[in-house]
Amino acid sequence: MSKRVVIPRVAVVGLGLIGCSWIKGLRVRGCVNGVRGYDRNLDSMQLALSEGLIDHYSENIAEVVADADLVIVSVPIMAMRPVLESIREHIGAHTVITDVGSVKGSVARDAAAVFGPEFDRFVLGHPIAGSERSGVMAADENLYVRHKVIITPEAHTSRAALALVRDAWSAVGADIEHMSVDHHDEVLAATSHLPHLLAYSLVDTLANSHENKEIFNYAAGGFRDFTRIAASSPVMWRDIFGANKDQILKTLDLFSHDLAFLRAAIEQGDSTTVMGVLTRAKSARDHFSKILARRAYVEPMKTASISYIANPGKALSGSFRVPGDKSISHRSIMLGSLANGTTEVTGFLEGEDSLATLQAFRDMGVVIEGPHRGRVTIHGVGLHGLQAPPNALYLGNSGTSMRLLAGLMAGQAFDVEMTGDESLSKRPMGRVADPLALMGAIVDTAEAGRPPLKVKGGSALKGIHYDLPMASAQVKSCVLLAGLYAEGETSVTEPAPTRDHTERMLRGFGYDVAVEGNKVTLRSGGELTSTEIDVPSDISSAAFFMVGASIMPGSDITLEHVGINPTRIGVINILRAMGGNIEVLNEREVGGEPVADIRVRAAQLKGIHIPEDQVPLAIDEFPAIFIAAACADGETILTGAEELRVKESDRIQAMVDGLVTLGVNAVGTDDGAVIQGFGAEGSFGGGEIDSQHDHRIAMSFAMASLRGSAPIVVRDCANVATSFPSFVELSTTAGLELVVEGGDSE
Ligand code: S3P
Repeated sequence: MSKRVVIPRVAVVGLGLIGCSWIKGLRVRGCVNGVRGYDRNLDSMQLALSEGLIDHYSENIAEVVADADLVIVSVPIMAMRPVLESIREHIGAHTVITDVGSVKGSVARDAAAVFGPEFDRFVLGHPIAGSERSGVMAADENLYVRHKVIITPEAHTSRAALALVRDAWSAVGADIEHMSVDHHDEVLAATSHLPHLLAYSLVDTLANSHENKEIFNYAAGGFRDFTRIAASSPVMWRDIFGANKDQILKTLDLFSHDLAFLRAAIEQGDSTTVMGVLTRAKSARDHFSKILARRAYVEPMKTASISYIANPGKALSGSFRVPGDKSISHRSIMLGSLANGTTEVTGFLEGEDSLATLQAFRDMGVVIEGPHRGRVTIHGVGLHGLQAPPNALYLGNSGTSMRLLAGLMAGQAFDVEMTGDESLSKRPMGRVADPLALMGAIVDTAEAGRPPLKVKGGSALKGIHYDLPMASAQVKSCVLLAGLYAEGETSVTEPAPTRDHTERMLRGFGYDVAVEGNKVTLRSGGELTSTEIDVPSDISSAAFFMVGASIMPGSDITLEHVGINPTRIGVINILRAMGGNIEVLNEREVGGEPVADIRVRAAQLKGIHIPEDQVPLAIDEFPAIFIAAACADGETILTGAEELRVKESDRIQAMVDGLVTLGVNAVGTDDGAVIQGFGAEGSFGGGEIDSQHDHRIAMSFAMASLRGSAPIVVRDCANVATSFPSFVELSTTAGLELVVEGGDSE
């Protein structure tokens, strides 16, 4: 954030938009005492004086820089060296020099040539900001607010000089980043210089074609958008192309290679390869647009803060469909990618978690079309067809992605690193690294078994039998998926049944999986054959509405096409045991998974001791069940649920804290909680809930507002988009009074 600094004497050499905006920003914030200016152009100096940007100018550059504390050199690249030569003899022994040029290597060379390689008071900088306008009159004191400024200090740069330049940038609201000179020029060659070069070159090619007039008559948005930047200054770009020659040629060669590849694919009618390029590019461009929409050029990975303001609501009503099952969506991408042939998925969850899995497979060379309204087409590459990703796989908030992928990655020929957001970076990965190590994989974690996870390629895996130490479908799936690549037989025994989507879907892809009691076994050497997958609605998302309708008198809703796999229906069993009025209608099977419509009507619930055998079958639904328990008559006791402490947040703590805030008598225990329900006559008080950035905590407290007596404010709800992007829309249609504050208006 802005830091108040006062620099006594500043000199600006070159009165263009970039330098003048910096000076104006410093002046209006009271961060400079006196500013002198120099420009080759007398008009610019007079204008800068009359506009109050500078206090003094001179046609003699020596007079302007003499004794300045900071000299800002804002001149074209080719003018840099003569300007530095002309000020060399006149700067003071303490004067710090900085520049704003978009190529740093050439400036570093000019500075070394003029002042000597040891000169330590020249701090090179480059603000990533600009304007379509130019000149003194366009100076904008807020041009740099929340924009990046890249500073490229060298080993010999003085700390005091660096601090002064940093202060002068942060005073005008810029966000500062450090880079090496070479890295800066490499990055800018790719993100700025190459696009300009291509735009100029394309326009030139088209203008030279004999039908040029004809072409420009028909040129529309595509031409205009692609070539807009070819209207900027030819002199400046000639200089940049010259000054950053090596890096530009490097990216140009890379681009030419890829362009030739695309050309060949088009020539050969290889539409899968063409789709691969286009879908990867589109997803990267969409991601970039989101970054731009949030904050231009700044902190791309930081999630905008979103709060829900939930007022007491109405009885829930209606018949609707919640989004696709998250667990099945993940697995559809994984197995579809590893199958031979093309897999069509419908009902895919377009939430951030399953999209993270989708992106990971795109990064490993799989061509995936969509998602578009839940439809995804996966061009499978076979069990051995994945390619090394160019970077670490970023899996966001998604534990399922990281744990299941760990198993698959152990069987690949290449190394992979997997990273995640703040919450995922705290979650235990030893539970998958341990069995994989027993199979012969080399898996490194950070301290205490946390991500990032580094999986070494090329290990010869061997099948094992693994007794799961905890009831976890993720660990079970991880071991089974590694088993696809392990010599011989791999089996797991689970202490209690957990969701069996991996086993079912493997069979759906034609892979043999044997299940005997609590033991699952498979052998390597088979292959997956593409199929069609219809993803049912997620019972974990439906659960919020089951609870909402149960606790709110007068409610009557039908949740359509919900997956009712026996390993997932704990929430129905528990709510029924509490007296819930839940009907399972129109049961059918869709692509190997049982599905039904679920009608829920309000009912006065009663407290129970939740049977421990139901815990793994309702593991993701406990935040919602805690809300039901608070509205019940009497006490609800949960035991055997210590796994809740290592979910996206410590869900026992987060729920108990939130309930207490709303006036409920609840205490956490090591493996569960005890909640005293307030019964038919009671209600939640108002208050502010910290969701701990956990989607299910956020949605549960939003539902609690149905029985609220005052507004409930739920903080940090952005992660609801990981599993239920349409939550606000659906829940307000059904009867909640929910307003969203902050974020990108989602
Ligand atoms: C999941 C398994 C469960 C669950 C998670 C999804 C899966 O995790 O909480 O949301 O898709 O396999 P655990 O295996 O850690 O219980």
